[in-house]
Amino acid sequence: TEKIVVAIDGPAGSGKSSVSKGAARELGFAYLDTGAAYRALAWMLLDRGLDAENPEVVVASLPEFDFAIGTDPDHYFVKVGPDDVTIAIREPWVTSEVRLVARLPEVRSHLTALFRRTIASTPRPGIVVEGRDITTVVAPDATSRILLTASEDARMKRRSAEIVGSTAAVVGEQLRSRDRADSRVVDFMNAADGVTTVDSTELDFGQTVQAVVEVVTLARTKAS
Ligand code: C5P
Repeated sequence: TEKIVVAIDGPAGSGKSSVSKGAARELGFAYLDTGAAYRALAWMLLDRGLDAENPEVVVASLPEFDFAIGTDPDHYFVKVGPDDVTIAIREPWVTSEVRLVARLPEVRSHLTALFRRTIASTPRPGIVVEGRDITTVVAPDATSRILLTASEDARMKRRSAEIVGSTAAVVGEQLRSRDRADSRVVDFMNAADGVTTVDSTELDFGQTVQAVVEVVTLARTKAS
């Protein structure tokens, strides 16, 4: 049987990561966080003191990018070579640099190939893949394609609850600025043809996971 691929895109603060992980757990699927790869590459450049602003430097570093990620939703980790960077890639100094690598087509095609290999090689019957261009570029032929959205207000509130000591105003500006930069590279604000929008503004975490699982169940019923 064909592997079931659930593609989920959405903006920062939409709850994409936790919802994707929760849905994967519920479905018994693997989970792939593609943003972690972009973050890990930015981390590597910063760690080595390489100039992430210089596209040639970034592209030249790709062959040395030794990236590993845990696709079991219960054992998530991110590694670059021997270094466990699971925590470090969430640091603000990494988050603000990711756009410099994510804007480069060479980086995107390199990582897209890596994601497709990971999707193909996972031993589970299905995989939830989460990012910005999964429904459109990485896995446009996925079994289920979902755009997870939430109002800007809801996304800001969720993010500032996550980041201790931050104010809603600062978090809001960071979210808007990151989404603006990301939108110039891929459109993840509007659902592409055939993509189902799940709006989590009025839903809690459990309800959002259920909404995603329902979309997947419906697609599987249709397919069989
Ligand atoms: O999802 P997350 O916030 O971890 O993504 C970090 C950054 O990686 C995004 O802001 C975006 O610049 C980039 N990204 C991307 N394409 C993806 C996933 C993430 O460009 N599929």
